[in-house]
Amino acid sequence: MTTVYFKMLIISLSAILSFIFIFKEMDMTKHAVARIIGIGSYLPARILTNQELEKMVNTSNEWIVSRTGMQERRLAAIDEFPSDMGIKAAIHALKAAGKEVTDIDMILVASMSPDYLSPSTANLIQAGLKAQQAAAMDVQAACTGFLYELSIAKAYIESGMYQCILVVATEKMSSFIDYEDRTTCVLFGDGAAAAVVTAYGKGLAIDTICLGADGELSQLAMIPAGGSRHPASHETVTQRLHYFKMTGNEVFKHAVRRMSAAARECLKKAHLTETDVSWLVPHQANKRIIDAMAKQFNIAEEKVYQTVHKYGNTSASSIAIALDELQLEHHFEPGEHLLLTAFGGGLTWGAAILTQIME
Ligand code: ACO
Repeated sequence: MTTVYFKMLIISLSAILSFIFIFKEMDMTKHAVARIIGIGSYLPARILTNQELEKMVNTSNEWIVSRTGMQERRLAAIDEFPSDMGIKAAIHALKAAGKEVTDIDMILVASMSPDYLSPSTANLIQAGLKAQQAAAMDVQAACTGFLYELSIAKAYIESGMYQCILVVATEKMSSFIDYEDRTTCVLFGDGAAAAVVTAYGKGLAIDTICLGADGELSQLAMIPAGGSRHPASHETVTQRLHYFKMTGNEVFKHAVRRMSAAARECLKKAHLTETDVSWLVPHQANKRIIDAMAKQFNIAEEKVYQTVHKYGNTSASSIAIALDELQLEHHFEPGEHLLLTAFGGGLTWGAAILTQIME
């Protein structure tokens, strides 16, 4: 009889222990938070100054600096492409994360200036890195691409589908810029950045992301030809339709309004206020837009990270490059919050809250 009771006790105990174990496992999955554990960037060496632009189009250093805050931007070499720059940034990010190429499950690449329409730049980066085990795809959300990618990486990681995602943003905007059009050619530059996103480790937790889009306003910033609607022809080339066109002043108004709204939504969702923000890392399209954002959120100038003066607008790469430089220059304390905001063609926009965590 005693043996029977003893056996029943053992069975009950092991059942309870199994429940506790399963519950703990479920709980861990529930609380897995995607985080950036390493960042890297790459900027091409060639600098294009305002003074050089003065010789190319009817503009002036004074106009460019006062209207945009830009002094110079980088240009990729003639034989250097978004995949090349992306690979260099990815190698830096993997090193910073302490990860190997073989650890990557998925490569996401944001670019509006891809090497080809097909194959994807993600596929080229996969081949360049020799990451045969990794899936790969491109994300197109113009200058908001990095935030869209982070949202995808967060969903993959937190669902448990993937454990390590390489997020790359890379742009050779100079291939799509008309250096006879003063309204756009002064604004853009080339460059790349990458981030390694995982479920565990010290890094920047991707807490909250708020994204938006308005396709009704797609005409405000676009490359009209080169897609199936207007394939390349003598006419499209003569009309310079393969170059990026933008109604700058209209885009400007939407940029401030949409980025501010996304940032407010994000802060609300994260139960934070603007006073909790240690750093604002906004899209680097124009210093006036950045200043307007900082003013709305009452964030001191020294807490607004800027690269616009030296790199111009590098589209999808913009906030990723800024984030890399910021984390190299400043040590984040556990619990510090960063507010990222982006805006781009499409129209697309978004904001994200990243929080420094220790494990
Ligand atoms: N040099 C001298 N004059 C110029 C130049 C230039 N480079 N560019 C434009 N101008 C002129 C215009 O022709 C216009 O002249 P006009 O009054 O005789 O017609 C005058 O300057 C004012 O032009 P605006 O376009 O009204 O100038 P604005 O102050 O709005 O500045 C700018 C233009 C810098 C483009 C600004 O509107 C801007 O930054 N817009 C937002 C860009 C942005 O956020 N882009 C993100 C999305 S892009 C993407 O996704 C790839």
